Amino acid sequence: MPTEKGRPDRLLDHVAGPGTAALDGAGEAMWLDVIAKMDEVYSDLLRYETDLEAKNSELEEAQAFISSVIASVSDILVVVDAAGRIVQVNPAFVRLTGVSEAEIVGSALAARLAPADRDAAAGIAGAAQPSDRELRFLTRDGVSDLMAVASSPRLDHAGRRAGAVLTGRPIGELRRAYEALHRAHQELQQAQRKLVEQEKMASLGRLVAGVAHELNNPISFVYGNIHTLDRYRTRLTGYLDALHRGGDPDELRRSHRIDAVVEDLAPLIEGTLEGAVRIADIVRNLRRLSFTRPGDRRPVDLERLVRTAATWAAKAKGDAVAISVSAEPGATAEGQEGQLHQVVVNLIENAIDAVRGRPDPRVEVSVGAAGPDMVEIRVADNGPGVAPEIADKIFEPFFTTKTVGEGTGLGLWISYSIAREHGGELALAPSAEGAAFALRLPRGRAEPDAGA
Ligand SMILES: Nc1ncnc2c1ncn2[C@@H]1O[C@H](COP(=O)(O)OP(=O)(O)OP(=O)(O)O)[C@@H](O)[C@H]1O
Ligand SMILES: [Mg+2]
Repeated sequence: MPTEKGRPDRLLDHVAGPGTAALDGAGEAMWLDVIAKMDEVYSDLLRYETDLEAKNSELEEAQAFISSVIASVSDILVVVDAAGRIVQVNPAFVRLTGVSEAEIVGSALAARLAPADRDAAAGIAGAAQPSDRELRFLTRDGVSDLMAVASSPRLDHAGRRAGAVLTGRPIGELRRAYEALHRAHQELQQAQRKLVEQEKMASLGRLVAGVAHELNNPISFVYGNIHTLDRYRTRLTGYLDALHRGGDPDELRRSHRIDAVVEDLAPLIEGTLEGAVRIADIVRNLRRLSFTRPGDRRPVDLERLVRTAATWAAKAKGDAVAISVSAEPGATAEGQEGQLHQVVVNLIENAIDAVRGRPDPRVEVSVGAAGPDMVEIRVADNGPGVAPEIADKIFEPFFTTKTVGEGTGLGLWISYSIAREHGGELALAPSAEGAAFALRLPRGRAEPDAGA
């Protein structure tokens, strides 16, 4: 306020001025001057007062605005001083604790916290850095919900630490939402597992159909051979009976066509035996697939594995595709034969699907070294290849570009999991044409078992 300090002095100068005659004339002028000055001061005062009032109402408005903001914030707000005493709280905190603001302000923060959380109070008031905690506050009748509380240091106008500001919100809500999400996720996983099981059942179905087809052939020729042998038996017993009755041996031998029977016997028996051996082989393969228990790992002969897988995949798909198989002699991998078989069948089936409709469909399966401790089974085709934009998706469950009923999108996902469980990996491999998948596995540690 521009108070004119010099003015009263000048007034005194005039009053105590020398000469009384001068006082009459000059006195009046002086008083007029004084009155004018006083008017001026008075109107200044008035102006300052209106200014002040305006400023005051602005300040009140700003304060009301801040208060209304603080009041309507649903998060709790607590301001503490450097000694850990509460300086201010917002209505949300009053609502949370059920204790009046008057009672809270001035009390220690520690006294407002649930007994288990009291130790945190000292750390909050004196902290130089912002921090986050999970705290409960005392309420009229117990303790509050768990709150996620963020505290930041508060500085005074000179930049000195003056306590802290705490804001917080209940995490019960968040936690409930998280739990609901977790439940949904678990249900999804369960559904996924069920689907995987279903897919496994479906592939088992395909396997059984393949086995039935495979067995049908030797069984039918064993059957046919037995019929022929039975006919020969009848012919031979007829020949022997006639011989005993005293017929002419040469004549009987010709009429019963005994030479043809004798000639035929060896290949017939050989063929039947071969059929029986094939059936035994198939059964042995099946036992190999079905009797591997989880964790039951042994060296697996990879050449035999890829050859069987190629046969089975071709059977399952029923396509006329040239599948070439080459293998490093004696290569083995440590693992469960049934599972590895499934992986290779999946890869070959995918390759067959990829080359469908090509004029020269080709699928190449090879087994080779991948470093000293690993072997690699590579399945390559001359199909359209995997587009770069889907290359990182093909191993995801249910990702498929095939139509409904043709593919579930689980093949590569299951294969990938099996490869990982074996301490190996399955990846898309670089190739000049089409697509190539590389399955890397740890080498077998001992001799492969001979089978049976
Ligand atoms: N050899 C390949 N060439 C081109 N694309 C391939 C090849 N192998 C897989 N893919 C792509 O990856 C997708 C996922 O393969 P995956 O084996 O997981 O499922 P699917 O073959 O579609 O169905 P499923 O195997 O469950 O019957 C396929 O739909 C296809 O788009
Ligand atoms: Mg597939």
